[in-house]
Amino acid sequence: MEFFDSHSHYNDESFEEDREKLIKETLNQDITRMMCIGYNVEKSLKAIEIAQKNEYIYASCGISPNDIEDNSEENLLKIEEMAKQEKVVAIGEIGLDYHWNKENKEEQKELFIKQIEIANKYNKPIIIHTRDAYIDTIDILKKHPVKNTGIFHCCPLNQELIKEGLNLGYYISFSGVVTFKNAKPEAVISLVPLDKLLIETDSPYLSPEPYRGKRNTSINVKLVAQKISEIKNIPLEQIAKVTYNNASKIFRI
Ligand code: NI
Repeated sequence: MEFFDSHSHYNDESFEEDREKLIKETLNQDITRMMCIGYNVEKSLKAIEIAQKNEYIYASCGISPNDIEDNSEENLLKIEEMAKQEKVVAIGEIGLDYHWNKENKEEQKELFIKQIEIANKYNKPIIIHTRDAYIDTIDILKKHPVKNTGIFHCCPLNQELIKEGLNLGYYISFSGVVTFKNAKPEAVISLVPLDKLLIETDSPYLSPEPYRGKRNTSINVKLVAQKISEIKNIPLEQIAKVTYNNASKIFRI
C-alpha cells in the first residue's frame, strides 16, 4: 500500500531538528509521496529546498491570507519566479480566512485573485485555504476560474462548500479533523466521490486521534485514510490507491 500526503509542512520550524530522519521514517511507513506546502515567501522557498533534496517530495508556493504582511508586488514576483521551478506543482496555500482576519477582507481577496492569475499563467492547480469565508471563496473561483482547478485543503466540514467546490471540479482533501470526537464527518465524506477525494495531514498541525495535540507527521495520513475507509465502507487499500492516483493526477506527477 502507498499513501500520498497531499498537504504537509515539513518546512515548519518544528521539524528543524529531525526533518531528514523523519522524512526517511515516513517513506519506510509507505507514505511514498508528500506535498510540502508554502504559505509565505520564506516558507515557499524552504518547501522548494526540501523538495529538491528529496525525490518523493513536491512543493507549492504562495502567500496565505494569514501571511498578508507578505503581500507586495515584489513578493508576488518572487512567487512567480518560484512557480517556474520544476518541483513546484501547485500554487498555495492561498485563499481567504475571515476567522483570523476580518479587517482586511478586500486585501485578502485581491491577493487571492493575483495568485490565481499566477496559477493560470504557469498552468498550475491551486491549493485553497478557506475559513469562515466560503461564500466569497466560491464567488472568486466562479469569477476567476482556475484552468487546472485545485484542492480544497483541510476541507471545513461544510456541506454547502463541498457541494459548490465539487460543482466547480475541485478536489476535496480531508485531514485529521475527520477523526476528532464530535467532528461528525460522515455526511460530508459521503458527499465526495472517490475520484475527487484526497487525504492530508497538514502536519505539524491537526494530529488525528489518538495523537491530538502532539506534533503531526505525514505518517498519520494513514489514520485519515482509515477513518474515511470506515465511513465509506471501502477497503483501506482502495482509499490509499484512489487518493494516491488523484493527487498524482492533479499535481501531474
Ligand atoms: Ni496548511
